[in-house]
Amino acid sequence: MQVFELIIGKLLPYATLVILIVGLLYRLNRWQRAAVGNIALYPSAATRWRLFGKVLSEVTLFSSFRQENQALWKRTWPFHVSLFLILLGHTRLITDWPLRVGLGLSEGTVNAISAWGGGICGVVALMTCLLLLARRFGIQRVREISTGEDYGVLILLLFILLTGNAMRFFTHYDIAEIQQYFRTLFSTAPTQVPHDPLVLLHFLMVQLLLIYFPFGKFLHVPGVFYSKTLLAKDY
Ligand code: HEM
Ligand code: HEM
Repeated sequence: MQVFELIIGKLLPYATLVILIVGLLYRLNRWQRAAVGNIALYPSAATRWRLFGKVLSEVTLFSSFRQENQALWKRTWPFHVSLFLILLGHTRLITDWPLRVGLGLSEGTVNAISAWGGGICGVVALMTCLLLLARRFGIQRVREISTGEDYGVLILLLFILLTGNAMRFFTHYDIAEIQQYFRTLFSTAPTQVPHDPLVLLHFLMVQLLLIYFPFGKFLHVPGVFYSKTLLAKDY
């Protein structure tokens, strides 16, 4: 067990961070230098503010995707919103700042928000992830065009959501210990890696996701800002 703790908790995080940052910089640099011709196909958003508003609605509401496929949007959008809120809540594992200090909330209020918000979002993310997976397996036309990667990313997320929800609803883990772990991880102070196997498994799969991030489907996260800005730009 100690070997796993050492690998997952002390060595892998450094490799993950390097691969994620170097991989993303490489991608962004290539996109930045890619030649872009005049691709205006329809009237542009004209002003900077309209361009900003259009990209914002694309990123927050997936507006053009909603017009294209409303049925799928009903699964995809709640899936992404719940993931976003879960990640926002996870900032608490590193620092108390955004919720407690930033908004001036008491510890009890933050715990209540975390229990209800984390609980609801965890279940919504899990259900919508299962629906997206069922769509890939269950609809013949979608199955035909799905690759191993399409299944793989959803299954990886499914396991992250399952282990996260298991901690939220059944086992729990002391937040103070995780905060202490992250506080010391990138310093010279001695680091105490969490012993809980569920925390380690959850953390391992998240690190696999982050390592994979610059190489495949998850690139749609930075990519959406590029592509939508290009399409709405005034050429
Ligand atoms: C700026 C943030 C993001 C935007 C605008 C965005 C947008 C989209 C859109 C439009 C789709 C296509 C719809 C579909 O195939 O279901 C999609 C798919 C997907 N997104 Fe995102 N996304 C974002 C962030 C994320 C993040 C942070 C994750 C997970 C870590 C994620 C995971 C996925 C997955 C797994 C799919 C494929 C769903 C499937 O196979 O059915 N996305 N995203
Ligand atoms: C640095 C990476 C991460 C660590 C150390 C971590 C750790 C944890 C811990 C300790 C909990 C339990 C909270 C509690 O019992 O109160 C938890 C819950 C959860 N985690 Fe993570 N997690 C990480 C990233 C992620 C990511 C990227 C996702 C989703 C893609 C995720 C999904 C969840 C879910 C759904 C829950 C249950 C609901 C909630 O408490 O928000 N985690 N995580």
